[in-house]
Amino acid sequence: MTNPIKTTEFLHGGDYNPDQWLDQPGVIKQDFKAFKQAKINTVTLGIFAWDKLEPSEGHYDFSWLDEIFDQAEVQGTKIILSTPSGARPRWLAEKYPEVLRVNEQGQRNQFGERHNHCFTSPIYREKVQAINRKLAERYGKRPSLLLWHISNEYGGACYCDLCQAAFRQWIQKKYQTLGHLNHAYWNDFWSHDYTSWDQVQAPSPLGDTGVMGLNLDWRRFVTDQTIDFFESEIQPLRELTPNVPVTANFMGGNPSESHVFYDLDYQKFAKHVDIVSWDSYPNWSNGYESTAHLAMKTALMNDTMRSLKHDNYLIMESTPSQVNWHPYNRAKRPGMHEMGSLQQIAHGADSVLYFQLHQSLGASEMFHGAVVTNRRGTKTRAFKDVQQVGQDLQQLQAAHATTRSRAKVGIVFDYDNMWALDDARNYANETKQYWRTIQEHYQYFWEHDIPVEILATTDDLSAYDLIIDPMHFMMSAEFAAKLKAYVEQGGHLVGTYITGVVDRDFLAYQGDGLADLQATYGLKVQETDTLYPQQHNALTAYHQAYQINDYCDVIETTTAETLGTYQKDFYAGTPAVTKNTLENGSAYYLAARTDTDFLAAFYEQLAIQLELKPSLPITKATPKVAIQVRENATERYYFVINFSHQPTTVTLAQPLHAVFSDQSIQGEQALAGYGVQVYTMPK
Ligand code: GLA
Ligand code: ZN
Repeated sequence: MTNPIKTTEFLHGGDYNPDQWLDQPGVIKQDFKAFKQAKINTVTLGIFAWDKLEPSEGHYDFSWLDEIFDQAEVQGTKIILSTPSGARPRWLAEKYPEVLRVNEQGQRNQFGERHNHCFTSPIYREKVQAINRKLAERYGKRPSLLLWHISNEYGGACYCDLCQAAFRQWIQKKYQTLGHLNHAYWNDFWSHDYTSWDQVQAPSPLGDTGVMGLNLDWRRFVTDQTIDFFESEIQPLRELTPNVPVTANFMGGNPSESHVFYDLDYQKFAKHVDIVSWDSYPNWSNGYESTAHLAMKTALMNDTMRSLKHDNYLIMESTPSQVNWHPYNRAKRPGMHEMGSLQQIAHGADSVLYFQLHQSLGASEMFHGAVVTNRRGTKTRAFKDVQQVGQDLQQLQAAHATTRSRAKVGIVFDYDNMWALDDARNYANETKQYWRTIQEHYQYFWEHDIPVEILATTDDLSAYDLIIDPMHFMMSAEFAAKLKAYVEQGGHLVGTYITGVVDRDFLAYQGDGLADLQATYGLKVQETDTLYPQQHNALTAYHQAYQINDYCDVIETTTAETLGTYQKDFYAGTPAVTKNTLENGSAYYLAARTDTDFLAAFYEQLAIQLELKPSLPITKATPKVAIQVRENATERYYFVINFSHQPTTVTLAQPLHAVFSDQSIQGEQALAGYGVQVYTMPK
């Protein structure tokens, strides 16, 4: 475990903007009292406070922030200090309009909103570095400073001339010659050949160029340029505060909408931060899916974030109650705040931090949930919920020195593949659903409390007994070779329909496709049939019939054996599920998309065969209860969470220490609706 933050406590607290209340010192004093009551030990300061820190160019005012540091330190509160680049002061945009972002249509934004600066502008970089340097000089040695929070939720893109020029340079560096570039983009098609580098332009609007390689390169460039901006931001911090770790708060996407945050390749970005942190806003009790189903998706998002560094991470933001931006801003039901907060800890988070500690009096987030609210202050249900979580985290303190138990199962997820698959003018746009497919494969493991790691193609596969690699449309020959070696060395692999179709340039594989992939799965794909939503096929496997939706690869086996066949259509009787044995391992191919009932049956037999199920001293009565384990060399912590409003029971096969009631218990135990229990046992 390498959590680089120097603390032995779980962090509890979050975004705090006293800069909005400087003319009311009484409010700030009251806030700190409330923080103490709620067992809040961390405040994140300075986000969006640029105009208070540098009211006019080169004139800084740190007096107020000094006082907040003092107040925090008096009561032992730790500080996460943010760099203010997420929103710029008016004077800066007025004097240097180039800092404002230009949209896809080439129009420069008016001043306003936030998160919308140009990430190339030398002036913006210079001004950001200048204020970051001042912050590092002034606060870098404060004992309370735990972590740098860089900017806020990087995302989006800028299409100004500076960004276009940077893109052109990026392209030139990658391809070296126009010949290589034209070949990679297949520019003979529709007369798109470039004859000079100056002709290279960002695709705008993205998706309307008809050049898939260009669209994809632009997305890759946006990630690289954002990281480049981030690196420029942290340069003075690395120089002056080399021992203070840095993070950038990533976004989770909205789990119920079945996608991840789309703009940036976090697998690349994560290599540049010292600890991963992310902002988690599941829309609990959303009315169209069960709490347990959303919990499964939220669990996956936590696992995805943890897997970026295969290590503990932080929840940088969450809400104590509602947000103000879901389509319907439902209140958390009693118990849900504790349920959702501890789910994150169970998956390896070392914090529960909120947006926001004190609700703003006006402007766009005045109705967003907060620890201290405009109406009723601390006399709210949410405040009590926050207090409860604060108390839980204190009782769990010893679990801080643990991390999630090692996973035997890895699911491959790749950003280039997601972008390329969505951009491919084939299949059906509505049903490609790469991330939802990953969720469907993950579901079985979540329901059976089997830890899963989400893998980048660059990760080492050899540590896993089972690798699942769904819909890997864009695959490099190197990765195909890696999969083959993994299986030969005794690994077990599951792949699906729509795999290995194009290379990393977005050019089609010819002939029978990737040789290593064919050898691994022991089959050749003849064609892919895309079904309309009302059309279905079925497959027979394990003496049962299962419905097929959306996609059917028609395949011909070479060395693979057939485990299931199609029931209908011109490919009736041909293989739909296969298994190939290759030296010491095996590779399964699911040629068609099924519902999760088939996946459950399929993974159940694999889980038995590969002994994937952890041996837990606790049994549960329903899959709506999840049991996650954090451990270290001496101790195991079992987080048992009920993701249903219905009370249930769990049975402890041997005496375990119940952390919250501080007693040793055994046998059948009641678990309340949305209830959480943590049990611990020495190893
Ligand atoms: C994001 C931002 C915060 C705030 C919250 C509201 O995560 O980082 O500044 O806007 O959303 O949910
Ligand atoms: Zn720009």
